[in-house]
Amino acid sequence: MASITIRQLDEQLKKDLRLRAARNGRSMEDEVRTILRTATGGDNVPLDATSIAARSEAGARPFMRNQASAARRVLLIIGGGIAAYKSLDLIRRLKERGFLLRCVLTAAAQQFITPLSAGALSGEAAFTDLFDAAGEADIGHIRLAHGADLILVAPATADLIAKMAGGHADDLATAVLLATDKLLLIAPAMNPTMWAHKATSRNVAQLIADGIRLVGPNEGEMAEVNEAGVGRMAEPLEIAAAAEALLKDAGMGRLAGKRIVVTSGPTHEPIDPVRYIANRSSGKQGHAIAAAAADAGAEVVLVSGPVNVPDPFGVTTVKVETAEQMFEAVERTLPADCGIFAAAVADWRIAAPGREKIKKQKSKTPTLTLVENSDILATIARKQQKRPRLVIGFAAETENVVANAKAKLEHKGCDWIVANDVSPETGIMGGDRNTVHLVTQEGVESWPPQSKDEVARALVARIASALAGDS
Ligand code: CTP
Repeated sequence: MASITIRQLDEQLKKDLRLRAARNGRSMEDEVRTILRTATGGDNVPLDATSIAARSEAGARPFMRNQASAARRVLLIIGGGIAAYKSLDLIRRLKERGFLLRCVLTAAAQQFITPLSAGALSGEAAFTDLFDAAGEADIGHIRLAHGADLILVAPATADLIAKMAGGHADDLATAVLLATDKLLLIAPAMNPTMWAHKATSRNVAQLIADGIRLVGPNEGEMAEVNEAGVGRMAEPLEIAAAAEALLKDAGMGRLAGKRIVVTSGPTHEPIDPVRYIANRSSGKQGHAIAAAAADAGAEVVLVSGPVNVPDPFGVTTVKVETAEQMFEAVERTLPADCGIFAAAVADWRIAAPGREKIKKQKSKTPTLTLVENSDILATIARKQQKRPRLVIGFAAETENVVANAKAKLEHKGCDWIVANDVSPETGIMGGDRNTVHLVTQEGVESWPPQSKDEVARALVARIASALAGDS
């Protein structure tokens, strides 16, 4: 029987396959299996019949969230400490709670437990090497990082904590930790003197400032003889409960089965084939919201103007240039359960853009006539049919932020307005942080300054509650 391996495919095909696999959260091999299954018209075709040489069973299984069950995906990184033996029990506790689980073991962890036992309990072969040719080609540390809702480090040793605080990436565990913007929970475990050391305190403070959550360490007897104090890893049940609470707070899985449309970025309105009117929006906030909604299990369509930020993982991104194109793209995505209009849409376009480049003429400055663009938010919010149940607008203001936002809520007819001050001195436009006020019919909530990712997660959690009828 003829046999073909992915390595033999031509470069373009490999590239397309890699992209497709990444988009679907599958290994390349599994993507091929899926394509073949579809082509042969059945799910019951024995996998061996594909004659695809299986280079790595580890990479072959999908780590996809099942939309119906919305199982949350946890990547458990096991560090090298005596508490690693408790991580095996932790795997069982997490599985009991319905988490999909993948494990990464550091080299030191393998001195205490084996990848085989972690793999057997989690139901997925455990990952160990950054430069494992098969694993890296099929899964890769970037996809390991992306394909999880939560990354849990247990035990988090003093060394692993120091590496995280310093941004090291010299093995698979630290490379995954640096390549992620997902929720991170760590369960420190170390000798009490190491825990009390100033260096550890500095590193832990840094991790907390970076938004990483801790569970434990607890006080008590250490596994080592005659050692007691603070440094004992939290119990597996405690860690599993903390993971569950964290994911619940972030609204994880709570948007399963919901369809959400998000607009993001600026629009470009052409003056002629080479010039355009634009604004300073980076798309960071809108893209972060789309990513957070996808993480929460929603089916997300992101309609994006021209931006330099990458397309979020697991989201269908529709790229447009002008306000009118954005409007049409949004219309095409309806019906949806929720619309989030974060784009900085140009209010006007040039009435008659030049078909050719407008030439400079002596003593004659061109006059540009502007016409108003469709107001996407207001039109969608006032729709009689196909109006999303929850319509959320943004208000970019430079003065009287809350008062202007309240007025916008009324005249746009939307349900919520997320208002922010985009005066140049705030650094919000184009920056990584945001200070917002959530304006609803019930009142105004002023949120603390936080990263745009955190704003996105908090907003998604609120949306999940609203769509579930909790608020
Ligand atoms: N918006 C839209 N379509 C437009 C203009 C704005 O969908 N043509 C949306 C934005 O995405 C945002 C909200 O309306 O959610 C408010 O945008 P903003 O620029 O703050 O307000 P404008 O309506 O443009 O009013 P102004 O510029 O006068 O403040």
